[in-house]
This record gives sequence, C-alpha cells and structure tokens, in this order.
Amino acid sequence: MKNYLLLRAIRKDPIERFPVWLMRQAGRYMREYRDLRAREEDFLSFCKNVDLAVEVSLLPLRLLGVDAVIIFSDILVPLEALGVKVEFLEGEGPRLEWGGRISDLKKYDPQENAYVYEIIRRVKKAQDEVPVIGFAGAPFTLLSYLIEGGASRDFRKTKVFMWEREFDFNRLMEMLTDVVYQYLSRQIEAGADMVQVFDSWALHLGRSDYEEFVLPYVSELIEKLKERFDTPVSYFFRGSSSFIDLVRETKADVLSVDWSVDLSLEALRTDKVLQGNLEPTVLYAKEDTVKFKTLELLRSIPRKTGYVFNLGHGLAPDMDFDKVKLLVETVKNYRIN
Ligand code: CP3
Repeated sequence: MKNYLLLRAIRKDPIERFPVWLMRQAGRYMREYRDLRAREEDFLSFCKNVDLAVEVSLLPLRLLGVDAVIIFSDILVPLEALGVKVEFLEGEGPRLEWGGRISDLKKYDPQENAYVYEIIRRVKKAQDEVPVIGFAGAPFTLLSYLIEGGASRDFRKTKVFMWEREFDFNRLMEMLTDVVYQYLSRQIEAGADMVQVFDSWALHLGRSDYEEFVLPYVSELIEKLKERFDTPVSYFFRGSSSFIDLVRETKADVLSVDWSVDLSLEALRTDKVLQGNLEPTVLYAKEDTVKFKTLELLRSIPRKTGYVFNLGHGLAPDMDFDKVKLLVETVKNYRIN
C-alpha cells in the first residue's frame, strides 16, 4: 500500500504540504473532457462506458497534477438501478421519472452498478501515483431528487413530503441509506482509498429538520461503513455553518465543508480532518486574486490540523482551466512549516 499524501494528511501524519483535489475536477471546463464527452450521446451512457470513464477520471491527474482521482460517475446512477428513469437534459440538469410510490422501486442489486466498481479497479491499475476516491449521494440528497424529479429552487415537494408523510419519508430514507451503504461497500471492496458522501441539498433545511430527518441516517450510514472498513469516509455537506456542530458527532473521518465556516476557528473545535472551503467563485477573479485567496486560506489553517485542500463546492463548466491549474499549483507550492 502506497503512503499517499492524502491518506497521510487524513491520519494526521507529518506532511510537508497539503494535499489537493477538487470536486467536479473532471468536467466541461476541460477541453479534453468535452472531446471525450462528444463520443457518447447521453451522459449516462458516457458514465457506463468504462474505457471513457477511466480516461476522464485520469484527466485531472494528468492535466492538473491533483493528489487524488475521484472516479468519474454521478450520484444518480444507483437510482437508475432502482428502476427510476434518469435523464440529463442539456442545460436543464437531471430529470427523474418513476411511479412515485416506494413499492414502484426495485430492490437494489449492487451488481447493477458493476461498471462503477470496474472503473475503480481500472483507475487503480492505470496508475499508483495517487489514491482513488469513490463516492455516493447522501440519502437525503438522493431522496430530494426522487421527490422533486430533478433540480429544485425551494425543495417544496421534498419538505412537504417530509413533514406530512413522515412514515413514508422514513421508509424511503431507510431504504436509500441501505442502498448507499451497499454501493459504497462495493466501491471500497473494489479498491477505493477513500469514499465521499455528497449531501448537496441538505442546506435548504432548517437546523431542527436537519437534526431530525437527515442526521440520523447519515450517522447510521457512516457508522456502518466504519464498522466494516478502515477506509476513510468524508462527508460533504453544504450549509456547513448551520450543521457542523451536529456533524462533528458523526463517525466521519473528514468533514468536507463549504465556505460558510471559518476553518481556523473550526480547527480549534474538532479533532476531525477538515476539507474544502475555498469559494469556487474565486476562480472567476483575476489570477492575482485566485492566488491571494488560496494563500489566505492555506495560511489560516492552524498547525497540526488535518486538512485537505478543496473547494467549498464543485468547479463549474464556465471556469477557466488555466486558473484552476494556477490554484492547484499554488496549493502544491505552499510549504507547511
Ligand atoms: O467530481 C468529479 O469530477 C467526479 C464526477 C461527479 C459528477 N457529478 C460528474 C458530472 C461527481 C462527484 C458528481 C456528483 C453530483 N452530481 C452531485 C453532488 C455534488 C454537487 O455538485 O453538489 C450532484 C448534486 C449531482 C447531480 C448532477 N449531475 C447535476 C446537478 C448535474 C449537472 C447538470 C448540468 O448539465 O449541468 C449532473 C451532471 C454531471 N455530473 C456532469 C458531470 C461532469 C455534467 C454533465 C455533462 O458532462 O454533460
């Protein structure tokens, strides 16, 4: 087993610089991604084309020199395995269709997502310079896609469902927690060196709703994974400043946060490893600003904090590749003294 910088940072071993990877590091902002993307008509076929998905996964390692490869896929692929029709419409985002009753969903067979585990095995075989990150959507974020049928501004259907049909909400959350548990277990067995759970949409909830309806399931998911595997588990949750004191109590190894928290203060309150936090919008500013904001964040991290550099949310398609590269280089050149 290689002594990867990312894993050393997570174990809080002494490191000379902070590791860096970026959410959505393989995407449309890269010309090479767009060229490969053009080889498949629809996005899901692209995700299932193992040769292409492996190649895409490796682009950020080759072009940016990041310290980890996150496998190329999408959080919605396990929902397709439940019998949900999942489509990605140009400029509109995901659209999901299903009967709407829990009984309309198929029992999850993790083998339906076998291509994902194959991508992990192949990415590991293709290189051993950096660790491989597997991922899944968190139960609540997946549930919100099922209930809204796609993107939403205010998540009104999800919230009304949660408040008025608590029994069904809990049944669906239980089921999705088990789906994600099985799916991530298989990714770890295929060789993932870390897994990240993406809770992109919990930020729309009030704190007491997060505590009652989201936290118990995420906690259970992470606990079950940690009972079975040593592999580090990272939890990305937007709305970080509202929920971080609750999330600190989970068994997650890594808290992946948005830009609403001050990392220098957070580091004083937790022993957990912190990840993320740079506002992605910084990448729309000029080069000096990108460098300044990146260094400002790096300098704010107290010594002895386990920290992994990342953004507070993903890269966007209209970002400039050269600025992303400058960002990665700035982090890699920064020495911890
Ligand atoms: O980080 C990586 O590089 C790995 C790949 C990855 C993708 N999606 C590829 C993708 C990961 C980790 C995701 C996670 C994901 N997908 C999340 C959680 C993280 C977050 O951003 O909050 C969510 C909410 C989704 C659902 C989803 N999939 C959305 C909202 C979209 C964008 C729709 C659009 O057209 O902009 C997708 C599609 C998607 N997933 C793309 C990529 C590169 C773009 C589709 C394309 O290339 O045509």
